[in-house]
Amino acid sequence: MFRFLRRRLKSSLRDLRSDDAAECARLHALAFAFPWNPEEFEQLILSSSVIADGAFDGDDGQLTGFVLSRMAADESEILTIIVDPALRRRGIAAGLLDRHIDRQARHRIRSLFLEVAEDNEPAITLYRRRGFEQVGRRKAYYRMTLGAPVDALVMRKQLI
Ligand SMILES: CC(C)(COP(=O)(O)OP(=O)(O)OC[C@H]1O[C@@H](n2cnc3c(N)ncnc32)[C@H](O)[C@@H]1OP(=O)(O)O)[C@@H](O)C(=O)NCCC(=O)NCCS
Repeated sequence: MFRFLRRRLKSSLRDLRSDDAAECARLHALAFAFPWNPEEFEQLILSSSVIADGAFDGDDGQLTGFVLSRMAADESEILTIIVDPALRRRGIAAGLLDRHIDRQARHRIRSLFLEVAEDNEPAITLYRRRGFEQVGRRKAYYRMTLGAPVDALVMRKQLI
């Protein structure tokens, strides 16, 4: 019912910098059971084969979401995408992915891949809406803190 109000979030997008690493780790820990540490994020952001985009609150400049992918030849794989749990369903991931896909195309990437847990409906819906298609499945790929492991769907978007 309050979708219109939720959408009125001022947000800006830019390449991630190494000094965003601690904030990336903070957001990552909110979403995943096995968080990556700030040093891992710093290495990824500084790598020449990694494309890293962040969304920032238009008022206080705080990181609200980010996406990272690693390129190899003419293919690339999304390593992670996360939006602050308090700010979801406001189009932040959609904006991040659009920018990210544009940047892949400028690096002459032909295919963009990702893996997603088969029970992660928000992410799967986001990816399908952005033109990703399932091209494979990895059985029992994700370890869970509780319960049985979950399959990963392998998805691909052709860029060229
Ligand atoms: C997946 C995730 C990044 C989406 O971020 P978000 O900013 O809330 O997504 P957006 O608001 O940009 O949504 C874009 C579209 O994705 C789909 N979507 C997003 N969240 C959804 C949900 N909870 N249920 C169904 N569809 C959803 C919708 O199609 C949505 O468009 P709409 O709002 O116009 O219907 C976010 O839920 C998240 O950080 N999840 C935890 C981390 C994660 O699972 N990452 C993916 C690992 S592969």
